[in-house]
Amino acid sequence: MEFTTNSLEQHWMPFTANRDFKANPRIVVKSEGMYLVDHKGGTVLDGSSGLFCTPLGHGRPEIANAVHQQLLTNDYTAPFQLGHPGSFELASKVARITPEPMNHVFFVNSGSESIDTALKMAMAYHRAKGDGHRNRFVSRERAYHGVNMGGVSLAGMVKNRETFTNVMPNVVCMRHTWMPENAFIPGQPTKGAELAEDLVRICETYGGSTIAAVFVEPIAGSTGCLVPPVGYLNRLREICDQHGILLVFDEVITGFGRTGHAFAADAFGVIPDIMTMAKALTNGAQPMGAVCVRDEVYDTIINASPDNAIEFFHGYTYSGHPAACAAGIAAQDIFQRDDLFARAGKLAGYFGEAVHSLKDLECLKDIRSYGLMAAVELKPKGAPGALGTQMQKDLFWNGLHIKFTGDSGIIAPQFVAEEKHIDELVDKLRKTFSKI
Ligand SMILES: Cc1ncc(COP(=O)(O)O)c(C=O)c1O
Repeated sequence: MEFTTNSLEQHWMPFTANRDFKANPRIVVKSEGMYLVDHKGGTVLDGSSGLFCTPLGHGRPEIANAVHQQLLTNDYTAPFQLGHPGSFELASKVARITPEPMNHVFFVNSGSESIDTALKMAMAYHRAKGDGHRNRFVSRERAYHGVNMGGVSLAGMVKNRETFTNVMPNVVCMRHTWMPENAFIPGQPTKGAELAEDLVRICETYGGSTIAAVFVEPIAGSTGCLVPPVGYLNRLREICDQHGILLVFDEVITGFGRTGHAFAADAFGVIPDIMTMAKALTNGAQPMGAVCVRDEVYDTIINASPDNAIEFFHGYTYSGHPAACAAGIAAQDIFQRDDLFARAGKLAGYFGEAVHSLKDLECLKDIRSYGLMAAVELKPKGAPGALGTQMQKDLFWNGLHIKFTGDSGIIAPQFVAEEKHIDELVDKLRKTFSKI
């Protein structure tokens, strides 16, 4: 398929080195199953499911047809004070797979919006309980919670926040969970649960009764797959309970099977109060996110207002867009029909071993993995991230796309992958990294 355009200049690309990219662009003109096709005709294995979005593989006709039909039947319904069947159906499907008692789903259009929404839900919940003075939030170093001002306020990755100083006040960070002694350990490290005690120190310093919520990615994804040490999330849950603090899991990457379970909450046996999600909700085919809350959070906010009043002054023009709901319903039906969360869990063993077989490569600082997600972290060369940026380009021209953050390559194959795709992925990593 040919790619023609007069100029690449007009599109200011997100999270992209625009000048470098436009000098030698990598344009995807087609995607199907496990593969992308670039504008020069090259075939590229998609080793990160796009950005963790497409576990069902690219180009699912069931999803495309559902969206097409929906747009012909009802292309748009105002989501305030009006409804359409799809949003109720999708909410039921999501609530069916979230842990009990998380049964209420609010739709948004992205992971970043899900974070802003969760922040506002936490504020509304405490205010409804007469606890409006709880106005602090706790996050974590190396956290990524999207790029809206709420997410940037919670961010623990320096590049994502150093330019943007006028963010929400009153956010305190716990330490991240990467420890050198845990390097090259597959799965959950056994050391490091004590890092959760940072939350105790924060409660002792600021007063636990001033904290509204703690936000964590159960597996810190964008920073490079930091798997929580055994017992760490359980301890956070305990401390939150002691102080009446809401625990929010950002499951934007880990949701919908990435860990081999529906949610990381199930994988680690810790149930949060609020859970954010996006990406695989629609298999990436339509922009959509969601926030799921416990009954108690929903009931508290809803019952604080008179019967005929709007209870939560929040929502987006495209919340629960009919086309996004149609994509979500079709995607969730495929996950369920083909038992794909279990398939991800089964493939995880093979995947983990294959990725860890790269351990002998001199250029690697660490390999981390859990479920169908892993990071290969390179020893930096020159400025931090310079080698990672170069490797991402080299890998692409060698036929493999993976996301890089700094010097960490983040791998997240589709759940429909076969062992041969994992072999191809690891082989391409080895060949490209061997040239460093
Ligand atoms: C954990 C987490 N939260 C939030 C987001 C933001 O999602 P979006 O880019 O859809 O706004 C991301 C995106 O990668 C993410 O990984």
